[in-house]
Amino acid sequence: MAELIDGNEYRKVLGRYPTGVTLVTSFSPEGPQAMVIGSFVSVSMEPPLVGFLPGKESNTWQKMKSEKKFCVNVLSDQQENVANEFFRKENNPWEVISWYESAEGLPAIEGSLASIDCSIFNVVEAGDHWFVIGEVLGAEIMETGSPLLFLGGSYGQYRGN
Ligand SMILES: Cc1cc2nc3c(=O)[nH]c(=O)nc-3n(C[C@H](O)[C@H](O)[C@H](O)COP(=O)(O)O)c2cc1C
Repeated sequence: MAELIDGNEYRKVLGRYPTGVTLVTSFSPEGPQAMVIGSFVSVSMEPPLVGFLPGKESNTWQKMKSEKKFCVNVLSDQQENVANEFFRKENNPWEVISWYESAEGLPAIEGSLASIDCSIFNVVEAGDHWFVIGEVLGAEIMETGSPLLFLGGSYGQYRGN
């Protein structure tokens, strides 16, 4: 990679591609866990599969994976504070942000646009990340509204429609 493109340039190029923002949650023996995730992707309709890519260095993923299930909370543009609380972890975000247990008993975040409960279907090694594929156990639209977006290192709002 180093010979092909400089690391900073590579990050800048990939930062031109916008993503939505999700909070992937689960439980661990220590309690509820969550990661802010931009790499969420729909994978398959039949069977219904979705995926995301946690870094191999992620402590949160290490704690979450033994639960074998996770919930993808699609954040709205009113939930930048949710992303910030869980990313910064200055105070215990689980005490600051309202949440409840989803149908599958996973942590679901109040005010999210959609909630997708999954069981881990496969975990594929992908360089310095894992590609985690989840089989969808349940998916629900929770709120109307627009998604939170992320582009070039900043949050933003969808201006379409
Ligand atoms: C908008 C946004 C998107 C992110 N997307 C990812 C991602 O797709 N994969 C990932 O491993 N980390 C992602 N992160 C970083 C994680 O939220 C987290 O900081 C990282 O996993 C290290 O924390 P941990 O060791 O506590 O798990 C993202 C952060 C932000 C703010």
